[in-house]
Amino acid sequence: MTTKSKTHLEEIAIGMSAKDRETMVDSLNGLLADLTVLYIKARNYHWNVEGTHFFSLHAEFEKLYTALSNDIDLVAERARALGGIAAGTMAQYLELATLKEASGVPIATAMVSELSDDVERIVSNLRQKVGEADDAHDFGTADFFTGLMEAYEKTAWMLRSYVR
Ligand SMILES: [Fe+2]
Repeated sequence: MTTKSKTHLEEIAIGMSAKDRETMVDSLNGLLADLTVLYIKARNYHWNVEGTHFFSLHAEFEKLYTALSNDIDLVAERARALGGIAAGTMAQYLELATLKEASGVPIATAMVSELSDDVERIVSNLRQKVGEADDAHDFGTADFFTGLMEAYEKTAWMLRSYVR
């Protein structure tokens, strides 16, 4: 059985150069890593949150990781649609992510505050990635990133509002 290297790029004819597709696969995998780190953190906090706001935060964190789970799949499959390999190991995610994993179990408000900062970081990264996608003539991914950015802007607003 042969294995493909994690940078293997298929030859496909969708009107984008291999170089541009490689740039976008890297960009998608970077986002995939951040979303996965945040997904694990949201599950962690869903399980471990305590205090008077337990019921609402337990439910809210579940909503967040459910949305992340859906987006993770879309991002990974877009990397495949561009002929690339979707990052799929924890080692790759930790190497590629700009977000930090949770350390310990913070108090409830600190959990929300950290998730808010993380989602803002994802929005900022996405804003930059939309520009990269335009430069790479990848209008499909630019549109996809723009939609995600809008959705996470709303999530960031909600998390921010809780801790203010
Ligand atoms: Fe649960």
